[in-house]
Amino acid sequence: MEKFIPVVVIKELSETDKILTALKSSGIMCAEITFRTACAAEAIAYAVKQYPDMEIGAGTVINATQCHAALEAGATFIVSPGLSAEVAAVCRKAGVPYYPGCVTPTEIMQALDLGISTVKFFPANIYGGLAALKALSAPFPQVRFIPTGGVDRGNIDEFLAFDKVAAIGGSFFVKEALAKMEEKK
Ligand code: 3PG
Repeated sequence: MEKFIPVVVIKELSETDKILTALKSSGIMCAEITFRTACAAEAIAYAVKQYPDMEIGAGTVINATQCHAALEAGATFIVSPGLSAEVAAVCRKAGVPYYPGCVTPTEIMQALDLGISTVKFFPANIYGGLAALKALSAPFPQVRFIPTGGVDRGNIDEFLAFDKVAAIGGSFFVKEALAKMEEKK
């Protein structure tokens, strides 16, 4: 799994190249393309084909229908804002990693019951940030977290320094990469 997971929103399919090229030239070889727009599945299929060296996953997957569409498009990982048992079942059958959003001990226990030990921690800033991750890691030492939501350049390093952090998610990677590309022009 890549250490940085940019949360990507593609409004028009034609934006895909600009965003993925910007991420790549920033050294980020991963994109979580979110099911928040109508062209998400199409954008995933395009990205999988055109950027074979990048890890292309699907985000904001909230039901089995979207999950099937994401997998058909070639997504190699699935992320949800919360935990969906039906999405977990589809992913397990397909052998694709699923990172559900979990912020409470109960949700983490549900994930563990489903055989999942790496979870998204979202929105990280609202649910207590690093202090919460450290507190949750006491009863759940086997769990690794992907803090997402409110992570930025100002706090990314403190998250990265904690060994239970598997990766960092965020839309700021995209904003930064696009800004860098603009500067180079
Ligand atoms: C997500 O769904 O993961 C969030 O929209 C990302 O949050 P951010 O925009 O604060 O990075």
